[in-house]
Amino acid sequence: MKPRKITNQIYWMGSIDWDRRLFDSLIPLPDGTSYNAYLVKGSDKIALVDTVDPAMANELLYQLEGVDKIDYIISNHAEQDHSGSIPHVLSKFPEAKIVTTTKAKGMLIELLRIPEKFFITIEDGGILSLGDKTLKFIYTPWVHWPETMVTYLQEDKVLFSCDFFGSHLATSNLYVIDEGRVYEAAKRYYAEIMMPFRKIIAKNLKKLESYDIEMIAPSHGPIYPRPSFIIDAYRDWIFNAPRNTVVLPYVSMHKSTKLMVDHFVAALVERGVGVEQFNLVVTDIGKLAISLVDACTIIIGTPTVLAGPHPLAIYAAFLSNALRPKAKFLSIIGSYGWGGKTIEVLSGMIPNLKVEIIDPVLSKGVPKESDFKAIEHLAEIISMKHQELNIK
Ligand code: FEO
Repeated sequence: MKPRKITNQIYWMGSIDWDRRLFDSLIPLPDGTSYNAYLVKGSDKIALVDTVDPAMANELLYQLEGVDKIDYIISNHAEQDHSGSIPHVLSKFPEAKIVTTTKAKGMLIELLRIPEKFFITIEDGGILSLGDKTLKFIYTPWVHWPETMVTYLQEDKVLFSCDFFGSHLATSNLYVIDEGRVYEAAKRYYAEIMMPFRKIIAKNLKKLESYDIEMIAPSHGPIYPRPSFIIDAYRDWIFNAPRNTVVLPYVSMHKSTKLMVDHFVAALVERGVGVEQFNLVVTDIGKLAISLVDACTIIIGTPTVLAGPHPLAIYAAFLSNALRPKAKFLSIIGSYGWGGKTIEVLSGMIPNLKVEIIDPVLSKGVPKESDFKAIEHLAEIISMKHQELNIK
């Protein structure tokens, strides 16, 4: 694909990765992704903002064929999906300098073995003139590594945000057209890589408030011509109270746990509590992550196997702990045959979660009437706790 003009002397370059289905050998990408680089032509100097995944380097080099020189490569983030083609660009433009944070410089040297002579480091708030265009660099740590920054093009009021505000979405649309579709992709993206750092990201959002931003150009997914759409979404995900919902990842072997889950879900719905239920055997982990953004309560459903929780339930607990959602309560439901340490194991896996643990309910074998009563009681407690918090 050829470069695409965005506005006055600013061009999208990059690659749309329609076929990629997994990131970091972990994160599902049901809609593919894109790696967006941007060329900014000033009257004196030319800057390339970020590059592309190294697997797509040839596409970027093709787009750069008509470009006479690159003075600066702005590296907002050292992760290879944005930095991995820097060595390829340097081989074509050996006079270019990489402009980045001190932390990112160290990472780029370690990750890509780029010689130190290529680097210019900048401070938070640093300015770089391209002639009639001026780039300002704003440190925004943990979007999504500690070294990350964003770049603000002052004259055109464009924010090049790299991972921040991005979405894993392969689309031929240069700009966001269907906000509903992008909302889900961006929320998935936030849940999977930003949510664990949301307290720091809250400070980054605050920091950006003083900038007049007319367009956000991220390095994944389409460009936001209406920045308030994604900024408001981030504010909601980060600052707003959790919603009146329970997220329920579960697995069942011989249907006992499934019977408990079904009864529990019905009891919650009767009490006006929303539920998002995920059978972990067939679950897209990204969907589970999205649900964790807003849920007030997490319930893990598991049978007992090899004297402990099912490995898929362990995975769900590990993921919930790593993503650090803002949930307030957690419990466990399920079943066992003769004993085991299911509750102790799962309870010990969630030190990052600031949750109140509500008494679990496990049935011995197929659930009996008393187990169903206990499940209803658990639903009642959750409903009351949500009401006490006055959440919607
Ligand atoms: Fe898109 Fe953290 O890299």
